[in-house]
Amino acid sequence: MNDFADSSVLVTGGNGAVGCNLVRKLLDLKANVTVLDDLSQSKRGNLPQDKHLKVIEGNILNQRTLEKVFARHYDYVFHLAARFANELSVNDPIEDLKVNIQGTLQVLLRAARQKPEKFLYSSSSSVYGHQKIIKFSENTLPRPSTPYAASKLTGEHYCNVIHELYGINYTVVRLSNSYGPFDPSGKFRNVIPNFMVNALKKKDLIIYGTGKETRDFTYVDDCVNGILLAAKSSKSNYEVFNLGTGKETTIREIASLILSITNSKSKITFRPMRQFDHIKRRSMDISKAKKLLQYEPTINIKRGLENTYRWFLNSV
Ligand SMILES: NC(=O)c1ccc[n+]([C@@H]2O[C@H](COP(=O)([O-])OP(=O)(O)OC[C@H]3O[C@@H](n4cnc5c(N)ncnc54)[C@H](O)[C@@H]3O)[C@@H](O)[C@H]2O)c1
Repeated sequence: MNDFADSSVLVTGGNGAVGCNLVRKLLDLKANVTVLDDLSQSKRGNLPQDKHLKVIEGNILNQRTLEKVFARHYDYVFHLAARFANELSVNDPIEDLKVNIQGTLQVLLRAARQKPEKFLYSSSSSVYGHQKIIKFSENTLPRPSTPYAASKLTGEHYCNVIHELYGINYTVVRLSNSYGPFDPSGKFRNVIPNFMVNALKKKDLIIYGTGKETRDFTYVDDCVNGILLAAKSSKSNYEVFNLGTGKETTIREIASLILSITNSKSKITFRPMRQFDHIKRRSMDISKAKKLLQYEPTINIKRGLENTYRWFLNSV
């Protein structure tokens, strides 16, 4: 895919875990990339020095910053900046609402004036919430169960509102548990980087629940590939796509694989499920993305974890 050559592209949240992998790929594809990121949740140094990359450090809530960013025209806007994720949003739902809803609306309104070829909104599998079914398709009625999930779903609705009002062309992708290089560990971060770091530091791997809980873990290169396909395809206009692998992996299996890959003597310990997290099993029905976008995830969980480990070895 080199359709992005010479395109002018904005990536909000482009310094984050998914964003910086997306930016690296866009640079490979010879795009001219601008990143807007306030570095509130990611480290400086995630992005390469490149004459085709301009990084603007600023907040999507700040209108002056947005004015500066949108002083140039973009062919594509990838909106990834967000307060991520569930636990953080439970602790501070108001800040979550501001960044994920008001911030998204502000970026949408600025982008709508320019009418880019595509506004790509990165939503989340979390919008499906806590339901009896296990495999979620885009036709499943969302039922958010955290402030984060509600804010991501509201962002989707605003994409459509701004399309109806001002004709912006948009596509929504619902990412599912992305993991890979540049995804940092931390209290509010994802299970895989936290297990990786603990395994490397010989600390316990703590499972909240029985370990039989499942998620659809998606290697970041597959997410990025799906995002680019969704941005480029004419069949994706005003559509929502699940991007995952379609496979469930238990948290226990993730822990065991990480212990084996890292050759760690760390122990697996169990604590009760956290109050905000009731979702026992979840995987994504990705047949729509496969059919309309020719999206095909290629990295299985073992290979993805091995790649992630290699990155952690050099960064911890
Ligand atoms: N990683 C996943 O598993 C996953 C799953 C579903 C959806 N998503 C969505 O994908 C997107 C990217 O996720 P990620 O894992 O890269 O998250 P991340 O936290 O690593 O990256 C988000 C980036 O946005 C920046 N940011 C936060 N608030 C900002 C603000 N007010 N102004 C400007 N920049 C701001 C952060 O500094 C960070 O670099 C998010 O929209 C997230 O909701 C991610």
